Amino acid sequence: MDHRKIFFGLVSGVTLCKLEDIDDGSAKELSYSAGDEIYNIFLQRKGDDVFAYNNACPHTGAPLNMELGQFMEKSGTYLMCHTHGALFQLDDGFCVAGPCNGASLEKFDIMIKSGNIIIV
Ligand code: FES
Repeated sequence: MDHRKIFFGLVSGVTLCKLEDIDDGSAKELSYSAGDEIYNIFLQRKGDDVFAYNNACPHTGAPLNMELGQFMEKSGTYLMCHTHGALFQLDDGFCVAGPCNGASLEKFDIMIKSGNIIIV
């Protein structure tokens, strides 16, 4: 069962989780509320780097993943939307292949400080 944590807004200085909470090559999914809406984001880890994106494909707005925490394609190079196979660069969310080619995922600025992943 998915017990994802819900934050009230995403404001600067909020600690989302610890780096050690995310296995290398996997992602942690979180949610936040803004007004009456709930938005889902994910934190994709690669080594000591983490990238945060809204979990909504620019093609249709569908979530990118089908399995919890699994956003990368097989080679581990690109994020992939499982609905129609769009591929996105990990570091900036730019779509390099698929129906939303040239569009980008919505990225969130984060930093890692003392092992904590924090909204900038
Ligand atoms: S919904 Fe993501 S590529 Fe179509």
